[in-house]
Amino acid sequence: MRVLSVTSEIFPFVKTGGLADVTGSLPKALAPLGIETTSLIPGYPNVMRQLQSAVPLVAFDSLLGEKASLLHTRIEGLSLFVLDAPTLYDRPGGPYVDERGIDHPDNWKRFAALSLAAAEIAGGVLPGWRPDLVHTHDWQSALASVYMRERGCSTPVVLTIHNLAFQGQYPASLLDKLGLPPEAYSMDRMEYFGDISFLKGGLQTADAITTVSPTYAREILTPRFGMGMNGVLNERVSVLRGIVNGIDLDVWDPSTDPHLPRNYDINSLRRKRENRAVLLERFRLDPSGVGPVFSAVSRFTWQKGIDMLAETADEVIHNGGKVIVFGQGDREIEQALLDTASRFPGRMAVHIGYDEPTAHLIHGGSDAIVQPSRFEPCGLTQLYALRYGCVPVVSRTGGLSETIIDANDAAMSARVATGFQFHPVTTDGLRLALRRALQTYADPKMWARLQNQGMKAKFSWERSARQYAAVYASLARKSGRVPA
Ligand code: ADP
Ligand code: GLC
Repeated sequence: MRVLSVTSEIFPFVKTGGLADVTGSLPKALAPLGIETTSLIPGYPNVMRQLQSAVPLVAFDSLLGEKASLLHTRIEGLSLFVLDAPTLYDRPGGPYVDERGIDHPDNWKRFAALSLAAAEIAGGVLPGWRPDLVHTHDWQSALASVYMRERGCSTPVVLTIHNLAFQGQYPASLLDKLGLPPEAYSMDRMEYFGDISFLKGGLQTADAITTVSPTYAREILTPRFGMGMNGVLNERVSVLRGIVNGIDLDVWDPSTDPHLPRNYDINSLRRKRENRAVLLERFRLDPSGVGPVFSAVSRFTWQKGIDMLAETADEVIHNGGKVIVFGQGDREIEQALLDTASRFPGRMAVHIGYDEPTAHLIHGGSDAIVQPSRFEPCGLTQLYALRYGCVPVVSRTGGLSETIIDANDAAMSARVATGFQFHPVTTDGLRLALRRALQTYADPKMWARLQNQGMKAKFSWERSARQYAAVYASLARKSGRVPA
């Protein structure tokens, strides 16, 4: 079966978060199941630079008024279609924001063009290659199914919601520029509280909707987590399901990770101490003392609750521990963290930045990873933490609630606990969870037990890839594209 995956990010070429990790690793997990995925991505400068021997396939004179062409390449185990459209993608900054962190003003057009290119491919614009199914991800590619249905293309579409907080909401006056008819402004298409929403268009026209954990699939049906889309999602609940994310066991493997000064596995966990020494030096923290290192690697947004860590870091530090925070985002959160760190020189470090090797080193050298998210569709950081023998301290929400087993007495004695959860998601809740983690750390045998249980937990893609394959197969059978 041939699948066209349409995404605004893909690891290792362009990444701002877990979406890239998923779109970069799922195709490899699906391949052994007979599913051949080609991913369509925008030709950002960083992508164009890394293209080796790309083959030009087709040129569009006007894709929403812009000149564009499609290239194909196979690289890093991935098959990629790259949409080369310099007026849309060749500019400084990241995939969504400019160098000052402000949204590109034409994001609507940049991602509508990506979606339109997907619809063209599904419609047969490439001689000799047509997908049996299209898989879209988040609002940036959600319009693909709207364009496809407008053109009478009935190829099945799966839309995966990675994060409902981003919806692609724009003024309805853009419909004409999007090349869509006025009827698209209706309740059963894109109309959204007086505007239009790319994501809603996708939710209304996709054949199946998935999200990245079963818990989040249930949560988004409620007003609290539905972020305005709960009405639409309830209408479409019969085609909605949650499939938990897997992790790429080759990219995140402490026994081979090239970013770690010292590799280790479950039988040589003591070597983590050497990584810890390098980590403390890198973050200019006091190398003495035996207390634990609690770290966070995260986007700084309300979602991630890192502001709550700024308020509770003293709990760790007063108990002899150290705190490392690495990430970037909201300027107010950055400032609050920097202010807290300035009160604890040598004990707490906050580095603003985004860097893959540093993220790996933090997992390789820390004792615990703190993830106090207010909502979390799946979360990958806690899964990487488990694999690296870091104990996750997480809020009980979304994917965090089903991937971490809380170290309560029953789970400890049954030897299944893997971390610490807290609820309600408040500063007090986090403080208590940090306290529980610190108390357990003081008992080396118990802590080692938690680390071991976490390292044995299985979060490879195998099972989840089979679930995606089953969704694909049932749609393909229904559409008569692939023999039953
Ligand atoms: P989200 O996608 O909501 O940000 P996830 O936990 O699913 O959350 O994925 C986050 C991904 O981004 C992980 O791979 C994590 O290591 C990475 N990441 C987050 N912040 C940084 C950073 N500052 N530097 C490098 N990688 C980061
Ligand atoms: C989103 C979510 C995160 C999830 C990731 C990959 O960015 O915030 O929870 O793990 O997508 O699906």
